[in-house]
Amino acid sequence: MRGGVFSLLCGALLLAQDVAAQQPVSVAGFKAPTWVKRSDGSSNYACKCYPGDYCWPNHGQFQKLNNTVGGNLQVNIPPGAPCYNTFKGPLGDVQTYNEAECQKVTSNWYDEQFQIELPTAGLWTYFTNDTCRPTTTPTDTCTLGYYPVLVIMAKTTAHIQAGINFAREKNLRLVIRNTGHDFLGRSVGWGSLVINTHGFQDIKFTDRWRGSCGYTGSAVTVGAGVQAFQVLEQANAMNPPKIMVTGECATVGVAGGLVQGGGHGPLTNFYGFLADTALEFKVITADGVLKTASSKTNPDLFWALRGGGPAAFGVIVEATYKTFDDKASAGVLLDIDTTHTTNATLFWEAVRIFHGYSTHFVDNGLYVYYELGTTGQNLHVHPFVGIGKTPRELQAVLQPMFDDLDGIGITYTTSSAGFATFYDLYNTMFETEAAGNSALTGGWSIGRQDVEENHPAIITAFQTVVGAGSFMVGHMWSAGHGLPEKEWAKSAVNPRFRHVVDKLITIVPVGGNAPLADKAAAQHKLTNVVDAALRNAAPNGCAYINEADPYEPNWQEAFWGDNYAALLKLRKKFDPDGVFYAVSTPGTENWEQIETGTRLCLKL
Ligand SMILES: Cc1cc2nc3c(=O)[nH]c(=O)nc-3n(C[C@H](O)[C@H](O)[C@H](O)COP(=O)(O)OP(=O)(O)OC[C@H]3O[C@@H](n4cnc5c(N)ncnc54)[C@H](O)[C@@H]3O)c2cc1C
Ligand SMILES: *[C@@H]1O[C@H](CO)[C@@H](O)[C@H](O)[C@H]1NC(C)=O
Ligand SMILES: *[C@@H]1O[C@H](CO)[C@@H](O)[C@H](O)[C@H]1NC(C)=O
Ligand SMILES: *[C@@H]1O[C@H](CO)[C@@H](O)[C@H](O)[C@H]1NC(C)=O
Repeated sequence: MRGGVFSLLCGALLLAQDVAAQQPVSVAGFKAPTWVKRSDGSSNYACKCYPGDYCWPNHGQFQKLNNTVGGNLQVNIPPGAPCYNTFKGPLGDVQTYNEAECQKVTSNWYDEQFQIELPTAGLWTYFTNDTCRPTTTPTDTCTLGYYPVLVIMAKTTAHIQAGINFAREKNLRLVIRNTGHDFLGRSVGWGSLVINTHGFQDIKFTDRWRGSCGYTGSAVTVGAGVQAFQVLEQANAMNPPKIMVTGECATVGVAGGLVQGGGHGPLTNFYGFLADTALEFKVITADGVLKTASSKTNPDLFWALRGGGPAAFGVIVEATYKTFDDKASAGVLLDIDTTHTTNATLFWEAVRIFHGYSTHFVDNGLYVYYELGTTGQNLHVHPFVGIGKTPRELQAVLQPMFDDLDGIGITYTTSSAGFATFYDLYNTMFETEAAGNSALTGGWSIGRQDVEENHPAIITAFQTVVGAGSFMVGHMWSAGHGLPEKEWAKSAVNPRFRHVVDKLITIVPVGGNAPLADKAAAQHKLTNVVDAALRNAAPNGCAYINEADPYEPNWQEAFWGDNYAALLKLRKKFDPDGVFYAVSTPGTENWEQIETGTRLCLKL
């Protein structure tokens, strides 16, 4: 089905576009020679080049790119296309129906790893515009939505360099895609060229790091496409078993968006963010040059890559992280739902008790993952984690909370287990997650001072979130607990994060193909009702760039605080022409996706 597609590029289909009306425009301070002038409302814009524009590359130029990337350039077809007779793409119609392929994509749609291995799928489908979902009605229309137009399945550093150079010279929208986990839609993009880095799968351990100064312990070097479960499995097989900081989710990549946003997980109490444990990156900057970034070489770039924002400073090809000896660990589960009480007052009293102990939990080194309101009135703590603790020691930390719960007469379901390593706990007690659903996600993080001084208001805000038909995922940890204070400033993550005790994700369900008015209402609810309640209740907190409202107000301050000014300078240094773009990352102030989130343009 893909073989015959390339011929479609020849015509460079100009369709409804009025080429004569397109004015090439140059933009002061930017090197790209080709821009498209457009206006939206009363504002004028210089836009990147899209199919149908005078500056969209021609057949020969794409063929040359394809040769440079070893034949790994593909015309992108949405994953659900085999269920449709016709894919109506920006480069022309393609006949796509294939019963066996349709069955495969239909039965695997909610499977994370299936979606991860597709060239351009977004695991949260909202930002693909949710077009072309698997269907039993093949006569329906499959369109590209916000899925990319073309994708380079990169196999070598040179392929990535070729993709960056092509996008920079032709002024195309460039998207870097690893696993597609992104909550903010940053690994898809309307009209874009994607570089898929998931093929970079090398994993190499060392007992003695000899690279940058100051650390001679054990480390692991991973390729850009490696996922947490892959490296953790190999680390665990070592003698003695090793572990590294990853997210709580085993399928997220460890060298892509996670580290560039910071990367928090169950080990954060001991070693900080994943970014704090980074020793070196191999990275290709917007000029197409492969660089080493470490505390010795390009230390400014090294700092920015450690939490300064994904897809903003370069494409990471490979990352090296500290590894640590794993420890015996204990976990406890807790559930309170309508099988325990239907009395809302009593339920929220229990939530208040649980949450009031957040500072106590993190001060005792616990990591706590919980969901609130997924089925309305329910609290699902899955799990409390005590790394280096026995079940008895963990129970002792939790006992004051259980005593208080017993004191208000609420019943609950709980269980406890001990494991030889944290890795065993991770594989047993953490739940797997599904892909293929649509929602808007946001979030806010709560500071220690907020819990200490303003706790009733925090619980009222939780009630607002759940009352709005939204729900929350909480992560209690302290990124300042185990990591010495002199290390904190070595990463670009918001300094406020060192005092956070609960990092929340908020979820507002909405279809990616819902009417535009419904989408606008959902975005409004996320920004101005749900997250606003949390922000107001926790003024000492901040927001996490990887799990946040893409349209977070005052995002510079919310995501990076005092580090923002330095990050802005570094963005101008390493990507002066805006080759990379991810919403609300340093230096994107003048960029907008106009015409209903489609064309990426500079505001003039
Ligand atoms: C189910 C789930 C659980 C999660 N749990 C956690 C958690 O416990 N802790 C946590 O901190 N976060 C967590 N996250 C958020 C996670 O940090 C982000 O989704 C992150 O962006 C994923 O990165 P990725 O590379 O795997 O995904 P992608 O979606 O492929 O990429 C994400 C972003 O990184 C950019 N990018 C990817 N690879 C590269 C590269 N090599 N060079 C430059 N830019 C690149 C992309 O352009 C995009 O902007 C979770 C997300 C999900 C969906
Ligand atoms: C790139 O080349 C490969 C190998 O020749 C081919 O299969 C593929 O269709 C080409 N890509 C495009 C977009 O034409
Ligand atoms: C995206 O979806 C909206 C409906 O939610 C629709 O109005 C719009 O045309 C779609 N755009 C594309 C490019 O698919
Ligand atoms: C609900 O719980 C609250 C708090 O314990 C209690 O005061 C109230 O009487 C209960 N209501 C009902 C209907 O049982």
